[in-house]
Amino acid sequence: MGLSVSIFGLGYVGAVTTACLASKGHTVWGVDPNSIKVAALENGRTPIAEAEVEDLLSRAKAMGRVFATSNPQEAVANTEISIISVGTPNLRNGRLDLTHVQDVCQQIGTALRYKPGYHWVVLRSTVLPGTTDAVITPLLEDSSGKCAGVDFGVCFNPEFLREGTAVHDFFHPPFTIIGTHHPEHVARLKEIYAWVPGAMFDTTPANAEMVKYACNAYHALKVTFANEIGVLCGTLGVDSKVVMEIFKSDTHLNISGAYLNPGFAFGGSCLAKDLRALNYRAGELDLELPLLRAILPSNAGHIDRGVARVLATGKRDVAVIGLSFKMGTDDLRESPMVHLVKSLLGEGCRIRIWDKDVALGRLIGSNRAFIQEFIPHIGSLLSDDMDEVLSSAQVVVLGTNGPVREKLLASLRPDQVLVDLNTPEPIKSQPQAAVQDGGTWEDSRAARLG
Ligand SMILES: NC(=O)c1ccc[n+]([C@@H]2O[C@H](COP(=O)([O-])OP(=O)(O)OC[C@H]3O[C@@H](n4cnc5c(N)ncnc54)[C@H](O)[C@@H]3O)[C@@H](O)[C@H]2O)c1
Repeated sequence: MGLSVSIFGLGYVGAVTTACLASKGHTVWGVDPNSIKVAALENGRTPIAEAEVEDLLSRAKAMGRVFATSNPQEAVANTEISIISVGTPNLRNGRLDLTHVQDVCQQIGTALRYKPGYHWVVLRSTVLPGTTDAVITPLLEDSSGKCAGVDFGVCFNPEFLREGTAVHDFFHPPFTIIGTHHPEHVARLKEIYAWVPGAMFDTTPANAEMVKYACNAYHALKVTFANEIGVLCGTLGVDSKVVMEIFKSDTHLNISGAYLNPGFAFGGSCLAKDLRALNYRAGELDLELPLLRAILPSNAGHIDRGVARVLATGKRDVAVIGLSFKMGTDDLRESPMVHLVKSLLGEGCRIRIWDKDVALGRLIGSNRAFIQEFIPHIGSLLSDDMDEVLSSAQVVVLGTNGPVREKLLASLRPDQVLVDLNTPEPIKSQPQAAVQDGGTWEDSRAARLG
């Protein structure tokens, strides 16, 4: 049996959601303060221009599945799920403007005061990580006088449609993300998506909020990358279409999950070297390619953060586990760990290093030359004995990830601090960036519970 759903905001997302959910047999109440949009929906017309929406809406309207109102209370009273899809624009300075989302929460919360039974509030507008927990839930609780998780559920469920192909995208999402702390009642909510072809992920609201930003940032990055490569190709007289077709055919390293695990800086003999050469050539051609130019400084920033994490412990006896640029090689050229060690030495740290693949006596050629240039006294820092390296350390820096990790974790003493560079963490001595408009879910919950 279909569900009854109210949709707040009849813009691109709300209108498409109304049309698509109604076409799946649900009863949908569209809500918007804009009387022209409400009138359009009431007449089975689309409030926005988007292929297929008018067709779906007029058919659903004829079957009595679509209603429109400007009255939030009427919509909430007649439905069991409210979806929020109002705009979240930028202010002039870029800051996210939550005014519309906050207004709707206030309206839904007020309506919930008078509504018996469990109700789901599903935020589909794009908001920064932490917003659902720190802003949405408290507002709903305050305005309803009810308790999230007991009287109503709150979920962040990002939308991935693209205008122009919105209906197709709605019916074929890459995945569906249910970000909630209230899993007890989630089965009912998931009935909305019974038809969804892709994977469904259950996670926290903050994770779900961040996935949406990661996706959009990545999509923008891809367009910009392809455009900069295209400009370079065009100037060099190379066919960019051929280049990118061949590039895209590599689904092992290029179009794949490879290199997409957050961790430490990249290194090795090729990436940095080739980016430098490419950027130098672009400069010779008077080409501005800011994305390609930003990669090496961004990478260096991760090394700086690694150094800062070690220094923030306030301890100076440091064991470095892993020196080569990745596990299973003794190649030290451009290894970010070498740069990290060099910086820490400059900061007065006493360092011992262990790497199962690196023994100075065995290093030859360019690899040895690199060491002689960067940290010539490395021989006195390297040891073949991990236990010996660990024994005198106050801080243990884990660089190259691998099987050694478990052994390392098991052998750490309680007084030793682990800095795992493979796991991005805030630098402890600095104040953590507060979530815009609030703190963490735990903070706000604790504050509200008194
Ligand atoms: N447009 C897209 O392609 C797209 C895709 C994915 C996610 N999103 C996100 O979805 C959200 C909505 O985007 P959009 O493009 O549909 O916005 P939009 O500006 O087209 O529509 C927003 C609607 O909300 C209405 N509204 C404002 N206050 C209201 C209230 N108190 N109650 C009910 N309705 C109210 C406005 O009148 C308007 O009709 C944004 O957060 C956006 O980032 C958009």
